[in-house]
Amino acid sequence: MSEKILVIDDEESMCNFMEIMLSKEGYTVETTNSGLEGISKLQRENFDLVIADLNMPEISGLEVLQEIKSFKSEQEIIMMTAFASVDTAIEAMKHGAADYVTKPFKVDEIKIVIEKSINRKNLIHENVELKKQLQGDNSFDNFIGSSEPVVQLKKLAKRVASSDSTVMILGESGTGKDVIARAIHHHSPRCGGPFVSINCAALPEALLESELFGHKKGSFTGAIKDKEGLFQAANRGTFFLDEVGNTSLAIQVKLLRVLEERKITPVGETKPIDVDVRLIAATNSDLEAEVRAKHFRADLFYRLNVIPIFIPPLRERRDDIPLLADHFSAKFKKKMNVPAKTISPKAMAALTTYDWPGNVRELENTIERAVLLNRSDIIEPSDFPDKLTNPATKLVVSDEQPSTPTLESIEKAYIHFVMAQTGGKKAEAAKILGINSSTLYRKLDRYKLNNLTDPSDGNGNNNDFSK
Ligand SMILES: Nc1ncnc2c1ncn2[C@@H]1O[C@H](COP(=O)(O)OP(=O)(O)OP(=O)(O)O)[C@@H](O)[C@H]1O
Ligand SMILES: [Mg+2]
Repeated sequence: MSEKILVIDDEESMCNFMEIMLSKEGYTVETTNSGLEGISKLQRENFDLVIADLNMPEISGLEVLQEIKSFKSEQEIIMMTAFASVDTAIEAMKHGAADYVTKPFKVDEIKIVIEKSINRKNLIHENVELKKQLQGDNSFDNFIGSSEPVVQLKKLAKRVASSDSTVMILGESGTGKDVIARAIHHHSPRCGGPFVSINCAALPEALLESELFGHKKGSFTGAIKDKEGLFQAANRGTFFLDEVGNTSLAIQVKLLRVLEERKITPVGETKPIDVDVRLIAATNSDLEAEVRAKHFRADLFYRLNVIPIFIPPLRERRDDIPLLADHFSAKFKKKMNVPAKTISPKAMAALTTYDWPGNVRELENTIERAVLLNRSDIIEPSDFPDKLTNPATKLVVSDEQPSTPTLESIEKAYIHFVMAQTGGKKAEAAKILGINSSTLYRKLDRYKLNNLTDPSDGNGNNNDFSK
């Protein structure tokens, strides 16, 4: 604990007393005898708490309070007052003072008031941070990637967010379907409503039905009271049906009815209930193949597939790997409170050439593990699981699509990485890459990486690496 407190009191002895007492409590204390000097201090630096006397000759405590609040509305301020002027203290509370103490006060009394005030300040701060985090977590900017398919899919997702259309998110496991679904909801007119999601693969059929549509008391053994379904819980919001490909044909019929009529019928109920939900579905299986195999109803497929958004597997957009890796390294550094770590060029090369069958989730886990295990400030290939660095296992990871990375895609990803590391300085990048500048120019052109060059460094356009 070393919160900073500023004490403003025209009485020198009071300042001295507070300084000794509060320092003993572990606070960092500054004092001033002048209200004006107090104000100018606060304009220059931050204090967790201000304790100000109400009765001062030069400028009154009430004026000091109002002035401070005019430029730092969140500042916690405690007023000190003589018993005779309690009314003014109450007036000060109306103007935003957190509390007041009457002089002479007991040491314990002021300690409690200070503690309460600092706790409240910390709570407010935490709350603001949480809100920011929540908003941030659901922003499209949080979907990291600058490869062409990612730029395009984010553009499409942003556009459909404002509509009420049903969206189908397609992509292998770990490609970020959840992230996109949440971002769409939070950028839609329904963002004030609930975002409800269910993983259809996680529940047996009977349970899934009652989860989705609810049930009436007594409709089956164990239904001891009425239960509202998730469709109702999502009313006026967005309902995210994850792994919709794993539903039985019987449930598919009911889903189709919801989409057509916007009504649900709880299990054991006869009267349908209106629901107002926007549907986002996701699947990691090839639904069209499921339709052909008659495992998935064609009519439901077309109803759900109004706007398909496809997230390609990570191995097909290797240029996103360095950005994602740096993003996760920064994220875990912050979370684990460890010093910053850079990923060595060799380690980055290992990341960009691996096939990532678990996609971004696997990359995220790999970086988390590396940040945790690594004891230096540079992440090396030895911080990764063997499969990343062992060429024997490297290319046999995907059973779906044996997509060996091409030499070109690896070269492109590596140039991208080195350009980002050098801040777009071409001469420096060329040196690291071991090629001459004109070769680098050619390659930047060929791979459309010109936007990575530093504008102050020759003829580049911009150096926005943020997305
Ligand atoms: N482009 C991205 N930028 C940042 N983080 C991402 C990105 N894509 C995925 N992630 C992260 O990877 C992890 C997996 O993403 P998510 O859960 O959205 O995948 P999914 O496609 O829904 O997977 P599943 O099919 O297994 O449900 C999450 O921690 C998510 O935050
Ligand atoms: Mg998911």
